[in-house]
Amino acid sequence: MTKVSTRKPIRKAVFPVAGLGTRFLPATKAIPKEMLPIIDRPLIQYAVDEAREAGIEQLIFVTGRGKTAIVEHFDTAFELEATMSGRGKPLDVLDATRIQPGNLVTVRQQVPMGLGHAIWCARAIVGDEPFAIFLPDELMIGAPGCMKQMVEAYDEVGGNLISVLEVPEDEVSSYGVIKPGFRVSSTLTEVTGLVEKPKREDAPSNLIISGRYILQPEVMRTLENQGTGAGGEIQLTDAMARMIGHQPFHAVTFAGRRYDCGSKSGFVEATLELALAREDMATDVRALIKRLAAEIG
Ligand code: UTP
Repeated sequence: MTKVSTRKPIRKAVFPVAGLGTRFLPATKAIPKEMLPIIDRPLIQYAVDEAREAGIEQLIFVTGRGKTAIVEHFDTAFELEATMSGRGKPLDVLDATRIQPGNLVTVRQQVPMGLGHAIWCARAIVGDEPFAIFLPDELMIGAPGCMKQMVEAYDEVGGNLISVLEVPEDEVSSYGVIKPGFRVSSTLTEVTGLVEKPKREDAPSNLIISGRYILQPEVMRTLENQGTGAGGEIQLTDAMARMIGHQPFHAVTFAGRRYDCGSKSGFVEATLELALAREDMATDVRALIKRLAAEIG
């Protein structure tokens, strides 16, 4: 018999895209970081595809100044389409950019006061439902995708979920780190604490939070009453940490590859690996890498 979940389904996703993208300046002076392409798709497209694969219908973009290109990417480009059609060019290359009317909502974060604050800006649209969060600069490649894996776990345990992955111990101080509790299965672990950017010696594990969340709407109230944390910003990790003990909280170890495309080397790594995985590019890129490897010695 098929298992039927009685939990409220995850229908909405928040994409906080109001950050300044300072690590990619000057590229991100006039173009949002989320529009930087890995090969021929902007980062935001990968995240939206992952959301749709997980059955999410409503996309909520938390935007800021200079981010209009993200919304335009998902709009109909009438002139472009008419010109392409007139020239007999197929339009299916644009299919992924089409959104059902009414399913894309934007809210503004006027001042980038941190990830937690960006999420809180979406509170009226999220309403009283559990929702997903995607950080588009963390590119998650898996089959099924990361959010689909998380929704499957959510159907099992409900509550709040974060995706995690293991990193070498000397890297933990750059990330939010979980304190693991009871191990439900090989990929699902209870979370008993969270720390943002701990010192290596204070880190409760080497499992880092990796850019995908399913949260209950109560997080909005927690964020509402919260002051600034690390870096003088309103941190999502702090709000989640305060919810632990009041609501179920689990971590899903993502089976797949994660690329930190907010960093330059992560961006290059993603570009090369995704190119190698593409039929239309693999031969050329493999030859290129071999040549470079020989030159480096
Ligand atoms: P980052 O920490 O990567 O910051 O934000 P950033 O501004 O995008 O990039 P750098 O560090 O200056 O290069 C993580 C995510 O949270 C969003 C960002 O857009 C990104 O998706 N964010 C961050 C906001 O929407 N608002 C904020 O105030 C901060």
